[in-house]
Amino acid sequence: MKRFTAVIFAALLLAGCAAGEKNLTSGDMLPETTAPATEASAETTAETEPAIETTVETTAAPETVPEVTTDPLDFAFEPFSAVMYATDTLNVRELPSTDSKVVGQLNPGDEAEVVGKTPEGEWYVIRFNGSNACAYAEYLSLEKPEIEKEELDLPEGYYFQKDSDYLFVVNKDVFLPDDYEIETSFVQGSYELEAVAAEHCREMIEAAKKDGIDLKVLSAYRTVEYQKNLFDRNVKQRMEDMGMSYDEAVYDVSINIAPPGGSEHNAGLAVDIIDAGHWDTYEEFEDTKEFDWLINHCTEYGFILRYPKGKEDITGYIYEPWHYRYVGLESAKAVMDSGLCLEEYLG
Ligand code: DAL
Ligand code: ZN
Repeated sequence: MKRFTAVIFAALLLAGCAAGEKNLTSGDMLPETTAPATEASAETTAETEPAIETTVETTAAPETVPEVTTDPLDFAFEPFSAVMYATDTLNVRELPSTDSKVVGQLNPGDEAEVVGKTPEGEWYVIRFNGSNACAYAEYLSLEKPEIEKEELDLPEGYYFQKDSDYLFVVNKDVFLPDDYEIETSFVQGSYELEAVAAEHCREMIEAAKKDGIDLKVLSAYRTVEYQKNLFDRNVKQRMEDMGMSYDEAVYDVSINIAPPGGSEHNAGLAVDIIDAGHWDTYEEFEDTKEFDWLINHCTEYGFILRYPKGKEDITGYIYEPWHYRYVGLESAKAVMDSGLCLEEYLG
């Protein structure tokens, strides 16, 4: 489904929600509010958006359930500890109700750290992006399910027709075309990418996990509007917190954050990944085993390190060991092996 119809679809879905909480097609049902559009805190100077914050109105826990626990969201649940797996694609919600806000999605086979269950057992409370959230119990199992790979169902005339269509430049000079429209699906938590890139990103994260490497997604698809807010907010922060002039702030931001419409994140083809122990991008990420794994394996999944060290004058951006760009399965290795940045590679 195209991004601009997602809100209407989500409203219809919520209105039509019955007892079950199985998701439909990934990417279809998420309202815009679940896209990574959370405002960064005043201290945040990097481009990363923080995990979605959950604030809800308070509802008192029922007094009739004595051993019930509550968390900051203030809904009632009993402690229950288990590692479980999603048996299907399912929504993760703020509260144990199909009317509650969707904060992300679990894909079939995804692991969930269960920390509680509602008194009736209909919902599990899971740890999700550093907070408690709720998943419908029917679609979580103690057994890891065998996952059959589904064919991607992309619409006729989809923007990307073949693997090599993903090999193009988006940068400060080359903005996304007006007819750019993509399907999206989830890669981790609430973060989405273009559907094909997302599928390969999920495979990459899963493969890393099998090698004992936990990759954490910090940013993925961003709307152009989000990119604009991100850019403007960072200019403001540099002026207010770091005492820069407007021109200094704009320059400093422009070597870190792309202009709206000129970001690979707007294309849904870039993902920022770091190790599980950090909450923001940092250059020393290059010294971690997670970076080492990524740099050795990213091309197997169609991704390249897009802003390499030594190419800052050409890319226009600082070295970003965390930013990976999907360029297609056939091209990625050739681009990386060439030692050129994408601008040079494509001439
Ligand atoms: N940090 C990269 C350049 C972006 O904002 O797209
Ligand atoms: Zn990035």
